[in-house]
Amino acid sequence: MSETDPVGRPLGPPHDGEYPRPESARMVTGPQRAPARAMLRATGASDSDLGKPFVGIANTWNEATPCQYALKEVCAAAKASILRLGGLPREFGTITVSDGIAMGTEEMRTSLVSREIIADSTELMMRAHGYDALLALGACDKGIPGLLMAAARLDRPAIFSYGGTMLAGAFGGQRVTIQDMFEAVGAYEVGGISLAELEALGHVACPGAGTCAGLFTANTMAACAEALGMALLGDASIPAVRPARIAAGARAAEALLHLLRIDLRPRHILTFEAFENAIALVAAMGGSTNAVLHLLALASEAGVHLTLDDFDRVSRRTPEIVSMKPGGLHTMSDLHEIGGVPVVLRRLLDAGLLHGECLTVSGETLRRSLGPRPAAPPEEFVRPVDRPFRANGAIAILRGNLAPEGAVVKTAHATKLHHEGPARVFDREEDALRALGERRILPGDVVVVRYVGPRGAPGMPELLAVTAALVGQGLGETTALITDGRFSGATRGLMIGHVAPEAAVGGPIAGLRDGDTVRIDVDARCLEAGLDASELAERARATPTGPAPAPPGALEKYRRLVGSAAAGAVCSSGGFP
Ligand code: FES
Repeated sequence: MSETDPVGRPLGPPHDGEYPRPESARMVTGPQRAPARAMLRATGASDSDLGKPFVGIANTWNEATPCQYALKEVCAAAKASILRLGGLPREFGTITVSDGIAMGTEEMRTSLVSREIIADSTELMMRAHGYDALLALGACDKGIPGLLMAAARLDRPAIFSYGGTMLAGAFGGQRVTIQDMFEAVGAYEVGGISLAELEALGHVACPGAGTCAGLFTANTMAACAEALGMALLGDASIPAVRPARIAAGARAAEALLHLLRIDLRPRHILTFEAFENAIALVAAMGGSTNAVLHLLALASEAGVHLTLDDFDRVSRRTPEIVSMKPGGLHTMSDLHEIGGVPVVLRRLLDAGLLHGECLTVSGETLRRSLGPRPAAPPEEFVRPVDRPFRANGAIAILRGNLAPEGAVVKTAHATKLHHEGPARVFDREEDALRALGERRILPGDVVVVRYVGPRGAPGMPELLAVTAALVGQGLGETTALITDGRFSGATRGLMIGHVAPEAAVGGPIAGLRDGDTVRIDVDARCLEAGLDASELAERARATPTGPAPAPPGALEKYRRLVGSAAAGAVCSSGGFP
């Protein structure tokens, strides 16, 4: 029996009625519910178990991808904690799509769709079986936002705990990640490395269990879960292969029982200020542009009115102070060695750049949870706010006649913020990849990949295969890319995504033609073509191309439901009345 809760308060043995259990009591109490009790006894529950709070454990564990591999043991430890504290754990699985595996194929369309399936399936399991609280165990890019979206939607006591990051590999004296693997494909295509070298890298780039090792999307979102207050501090950076990962799952379970006892719910935690904290963290660390999409979607579920302008505003006031891959030097496990995400949060809080009074799943405010100031981290890794890597944060929102609703760019460790050049327009990702393979993309070009938005693809795939090929071919500094699709957290270079409205709904990007001049000016927050908006609109109406057909099933259904990337690409009205 743990004697204290995660913030050190006494946690005595639970007794009857100690925990609110409104959902499970409704499910199992009274003569009418005798069949439900019979079914539950067949799962091994005793009569006394039926009087305990039911704790749903949504687990994205599966064998599809290394990102998930720690979660089986994490879940076992969490279950033991829940039982010890007087709850009845009920584990259920939900899905994962591995972007690292699907990337560069048309199956990448399934990725963002999976976020909705994770949220929906978790919601339905929790509702259907009367679970009083949610332990959300997840990893990979969509597991984290999907589970958090379900938590916000249900608004029952909930906590997130992570599957953990992968360690970096080693190759030729360099530390490598999956990002190097994708860029090596581009280098191979231009003869920069041999096939043998490409294959040798492939044997060491991913050395074991865990999520993609840099500050790519999964690690960005795990860090956001801490900043939002939905995960215990320190949870995000613990590597998947460390025993501490398993202990973190047990700690999260204990904290969840405390949340249930004090009835602290996700919407108490997920306030507008909490979202500003998460945006500030992404801006300071150079996190993935996918955080924009996912935080918008999560805010929608929580009934919080968050817009693209909030990202630009918070990012402008937040200095970029952390050096993490893909733009910088370090991996998530490196961050763990210097104290994890709390080190960055503490630095931002001390500079007045966070809202310290936001509540967290510890039951305390962020300020109290962060505790005393940690030892100063190395400056080549985490800078003081008055000597940042860049004065502004890593996310910028661009607008102009090509993106009247907005577009997203990551500027982390950017060497170039302006570009003007001729458009090279592709209506399919594979056409852009073919042009790159045939060396038809030239310095100065603006590669345009369209009809790959939420509705267009459908599913708004990430274009890491294209962006990495540009970098691998040595074109990363001399070209730019714009798309109504999105990017992997491993993308670097001047890449503008989430262009909205997307081509598939007649957005101006559909009116671009080869050779049109495109101007990108990040400082001026501008993305425009050298044409009148009316001419772009006329051309978009007349364009003979439309979105590719969607196969019947999940993708076709998603196309009918999904909204604009500028609002998070959500499929429902969320938490708004
Ligand atoms: Fe799962 Fe990268 S594929 S985190």
